[in-house]
Amino acid sequence: MNAAAAQQAQEARASGMQSMLWVDDVTVSFDGFRALDRLSLVLEPGELRCIIGPNGAGKTTMMDVITGKTRPDTGKVFMQNGTIELTRMKEPDIAHVGVGRKFQRPTVFEQLSVFENLELACKAKKGAFRTLFARLSGEQRDRIEETLETIGLSGEVSTRSGLLSHGQKQWLEIGMLLVQDPKVMLVDEPVAGMTHQEIDRTAELLDSLAGGRTVVVVEHDMDFVRRIARTVTVLHEGSVLAQGPMDKVQNDPHVIEVYLGS
Ligand SMILES: Nc1ncnc2c1ncn2[C@@H]1O[C@H](COP(=O)(O)OP(=O)(O)OP(=O)(O)O)[C@@H](O)[C@H]1O
Ligand SMILES: [Mg+2]
Repeated sequence: MNAAAAQQAQEARASGMQSMLWVDDVTVSFDGFRALDRLSLVLEPGELRCIIGPNGAGKTTMMDVITGKTRPDTGKVFMQNGTIELTRMKEPDIAHVGVGRKFQRPTVFEQLSVFENLELACKAKKGAFRTLFARLSGEQRDRIEETLETIGLSGEVSTRSGLLSHGQKQWLEIGMLLVQDPKVMLVDEPVAGMTHQEIDRTAELLDSLAGGRTVVVVEHDMDFVRRIARTVTVLHEGSVLAQGPMDKVQNDPHVIEVYLGS
């Protein structure tokens, strides 16, 4: 595995200097167990990347490292052509330079309306508590309107968020990231627990978001991944097992053995 990882790190390094996000040879150990094992990954601006792999492969840990929640033992993470080193920064600063993350369970403020949730997210970007009491600027208002359209909740502006369906809450949370205009969006298992219709709508939504920003989607639902996938990365035991277009990855004997075959 280490020879492959070394080669992969080298290849990544060649393109990492022209990337939106570059995970450079990252290892994370928990009590001696390597959750990430010399992981290297390069994402281009505007790319939509799906990350798949068995339970415990290190997918969420990878997001934890990118967002600064977990410090790697070795390796670095960079943004914007290697010019910003995220692994030197604190969590809030990483969010501030444009890395947004959506956790698996929706964390909207259930007592507040759809609009109020987006308003809070919009103001939170400024970072200063006093801005919570400031009025929205015209520009912020426009961004909220536009986001409501994108996430399909224009008809629910005044609805208390606790009354939304599970799918709508997930979209609202994606909207709360969008109003902050992230350069990189990390989305962990977005369609878990959704109805078929909600899954369809989420596929369209994530599809429409790529291009304007780099989107990383971790998901176990293979039908969903097939719908949105361009490049797919398969993680296994903390490093990249396979990478490429979905049909290539799907037919890779190693991938079938460790993941899709089960
Ligand atoms: N804080 C932690 N302390 C100890 N071990 C951890 C910690 N976080 C993750 N791990 C371990 O690291 C490994 C990778 O976990 P991770 O959550 O990244 O996997 P995953 O690919 O997201 O899996 P899943 O598909 O089940 O969400 C697992 O074996 C997990 O038990
Ligand atoms: Mg996970």
